[in-house]
Amino acid sequence: MRWLRRPAVYVAMLAAAASAAPLPWLPLAADGVHDPAAPGLAFLQQPAEALAPLPRDSAGNLVRWVQALESGAIAPRSTLLGHTPVRVLDQDIIVSRFRSMPAVKFPHRQHTHWLDCSNCHPFPFADKAGANKLSMVAILNGEQCGLCHGAVAFPLTECNRCHSVSNEALKREAAK
Ligand code: HEC
Ligand code: HEC
Ligand code: HEC
Repeated sequence: MRWLRRPAVYVAMLAAAASAAPLPWLPLAADGVHDPAAPGLAFLQQPAEALAPLPRDSAGNLVRWVQALESGAIAPRSTLLGHTPVRVLDQDIIVSRFRSMPAVKFPHRQHTHWLDCSNCHPFPFADKAGANKLSMVAILNGEQCGLCHGAVAFPLTECNRCHSVSNEALKREAAK
């Protein structure tokens, strides 16, 4: 289907989805999740107070989480019990080269600072480069990268954060 190759189609699909999104950093009593009458609410930290000091993003919940972790602004525990091995993989994988958008760089290091290998392998991704039928339509439907991006990680409106590698640069490198 030809129209599926046109970036503008995805921008339009996302604009429709984004208009229904709630504003970030609502007070807990107004977030539609907490019971405003619950007496325990007074003991909880408000999102605005917790999140405002962190590196600011322009999308999603307005925090650059990778930067927050790398700068030491937050230092979450890696494991609950202390004896679970923590596995970090420093490997970038570039997919979707030489198509209408800049190529996509999937960075393992940043992901494995938050997640275990088993969060992604063998589901939703086989651990073999090129073995997965990645698709932007599936991602927009909440599968593959979209299981997390747009749900708990930066939203799909940030095209360039995934489509971050210029095809020209890849061509120059291949020609060397
Ligand atoms: C957030 C999801 C995610 C996490 C977490 C993750 N991976 Fe991956 N991994 C991927 C994706 C996406 C690919 C690329 C698959 C493709 O190209 O079709 C991949 C590819 C791989 C490959 C194939 C590389 C190649 O050149 O063939 C290996 C090996 C791998 N991962 C190992 C790991 C290990 C070990 C961990 C934990 C330390 C890990 N992965 C954590 C998503 C993840
Ligand atoms: C299991 C959940 C999960 C999946 C699946 C996943 N991601 Fe992520 N991704 C995260 C989290 C969590 C972060 C860190 C929080 C953030 O940046 O919003 C992140 C961050 C990133 C970053 C930012 C790195 C940086 O330096 O700021 C990129 C780029 C990215 N993901 C690309 C992808 C791509 C491409 C795929 C699919 C091939 C994918 N992710 C699949 C959870 C996931
Ligand atoms: C979370 C990461 C992520 C984000 C954000 C993202 N994409 Fe993608 N996109 C991918 C991956 C992975 C593929 C590779 C699928 C494939 O090989 O077709 C892809 C493929 C595509 C393709 C088909 C290949 C091509 O270059 O022609 C288009 C078009 C596309 N994306 C457009 C967009 C647009 C427009 C946005 C922003 C509105 C966007 N994408 C945001 C990960 C992402």
